[in-house]
Order: sequence, then C-alpha cells, then structure tokens
Amino acid sequence: MASAIVRGLQHSALAKRYQFCATTSSAKSAQKLSKTLKIPVHNDNARLIRESDILVLAVKPQQIKEVLKPFTLLFDQNKVIISLCAGITISSLKKLLHKKSPIARCMPNTPLSIKEGVSALSFSKAFPRKSKQAVLALFSELGLTIEISESKFDAFTALCGCGPAFVFEIAHHLEQTAKSMGLPSSLVSPLVAQMLYGSSALIKYSNKSPQTLCQEVCSPKGATIEGIRVLRSRQIAQILQTTLQASRKRAHALGKLL
Ligand SMILES: NC(=O)c1ccc[n+]([C@@H]2O[C@H](COP(=O)([O-])OP(=O)(O)OC[C@H]3O[C@@H](n4cnc5c(N)ncnc54)[C@H](OP(=O)(O)O)[C@@H]3O)[C@@H](O)[C@H]2O)c1
Repeated sequence: MASAIVRGLQHSALAKRYQFCATTSSAKSAQKLSKTLKIPVHNDNARLIRESDILVLAVKPQQIKEVLKPFTLLFDQNKVIISLCAGITISSLKKLLHKKSPIARCMPNTPLSIKEGVSALSFSKAFPRKSKQAVLALFSELGLTIEISESKFDAFTALCGCGPAFVFEIAHHLEQTAKSMGLPSSLVSPLVAQMLYGSSALIKYSNKSPQTLCQEVCSPKGATIEGIRVLRSRQIAQILQTTLQASRKRAHALGKLL
C-alpha cells in the first residue's frame, strides 16, 4: 500500500516539498523496492524514525506491535504518524508511541497509485492544525479524501479499502465469460476495463442514482433486463451485503490484535 502512495505522489508538485525514504524487513527486499520505486529504502527502522518528521506505518496490522515496540522511545510529539493499518485504532497506537504523538489513522485504497483513490482520515486530538492540512492536502493529491470519525472506519475499510479487490474479482469473471463467449482474448481486458470505467464515470458525473441508470438501460423484454433478472434471482444484493459485512467484521477483529 505504501508503494501505491509513493507511486501516486511521485509526479505531484506538492510532494516535491518532501523527501521520501522507506524501510522493509530485510536488506534484500529494501534493495528490490528501492529499484522499483526509485527512492532510498533500507532496513534500519531506528534510523528512519530519527531522520523523519512524518512516518507512515504500512506494515500488516498483525505486525505493528512487534515492529514498533523496540522504538517507542524514539517517538515524540513532533513526529507525525500516519497509520494505514486496517482496524488499528488511534488509542491503541498511542500505547506504542509517545503519549502526545500526533496520529492520523488513514484508510486508502490502491487506485491511489494512479491518483484515482479514495482515502478516509481520522486525527488524534492533539494533531497540529498545520500538519493536518498538510496530510489532507497530500492525500487529496491522490484522489477523493474525507475526514470521518473512527467509529466509521471499519465500514469504510470494507467499502473502499477492500472494494477494489471486489471489483477486480468481478472484472476477472466478466473477462473469463466474455472469452468463453468467443470475444477475442486480446480485446476482452480493455473492453471490460473501459466498460467498468465508463459506468463508474456515469455514476460519478450524471447526477443520477445507480438504480435510475440501471432502469434507463433496461427496456422491457430487452437483453439487459434478462441479465438483471439473473443477478436478482441469485441474490446479488445479499451477496454484496454479506461480502461487505464480512470485511467490516474482519477489519474490526484486526483492531483487537493490539
Ligand atoms: N493492500 C491494500 O489494498 C490496503 C488498503 C488499505 C490499507 N492497507 C493497509 O496497509 C498496510 C500494509 O498492507 P500491504 O497490503 O501493503 O502489506 P504488504 O504488501 O505485506 O507490505 C508490508 C510492507 O511492510 C514491510 N515490513 C514488514 N516488516 C517490516 C519491518 N519489521 N520493518 C520495516 N518494514 C517491514 C514489508 O517489507 P518486506 O517486503 O521486507 O516484508 C512490506 O514492504 C496494512 O496494515 C493494511 O491494513 C492495505
């Protein structure tokens, strides 16, 4: 996820004010990532913490305790922390950092890498106003950015953090089926991508609800309504509801790992 953010920010004018540096768990993976992202990457977390004003925590939620614990004393109220860790609350992070650490909890998604992301942020009480504006401005470079209360984070995670994977899964099955129906393999992927992109753009720009847009393309006894009938008879609404609820539940459970 951190790589997606770096990629998205690499060509932004705003990000030129910052110097990027990252760590990984080993010298080997650091070297590899440095080559890919074209930024300095090493595996010395203490050095990174000492040398940085803003730290982005982007390890798996299960790893956060083990990764931060040896360095608790290196944090202070001047080091801004942005945590991307799903489920992990600001109050539980405070226990591993300085008690006055300014902490932003952030849930981004991978389309950030092409500046088409969605991010939600929540800030700890002591978060300095100027730093808050700077963090919001940085994420706004990468797509839609909203501030929400922490109580909404798990639902947001399910919808927008996990959502791209659900769309990719659907796109994969559309591609497979399109191929099996005889559409040329080389064309299927761009066709599916453009169909999804165009449909999303209509939802975004037409000022119509998805339900209205759907009705508008369903002429009675037409081909579209036949397909829609199948989706409804197979309980698409329930499938999606159960999907988001499962992800929200898991995001919540990840928060209990600290
Ligand atoms: N993936 C998403 O779409 C998404 C969306 C929103 C939020 N998030 C959140 O973003 C976080 C990262 O997820 P991810 O999918 O990007 O995980 P990931 O691909 O496994 O990346 C984790 C990174 O942390 C590094 N790391 C592991 N242990 C370390 C240590 N001791 N010191 C320094 N670096 C260490 C890993 O380096 P090595 O390669 O050397 O192991 C790797 O570069 C998670 O907390 C997740 O909840 C993810």
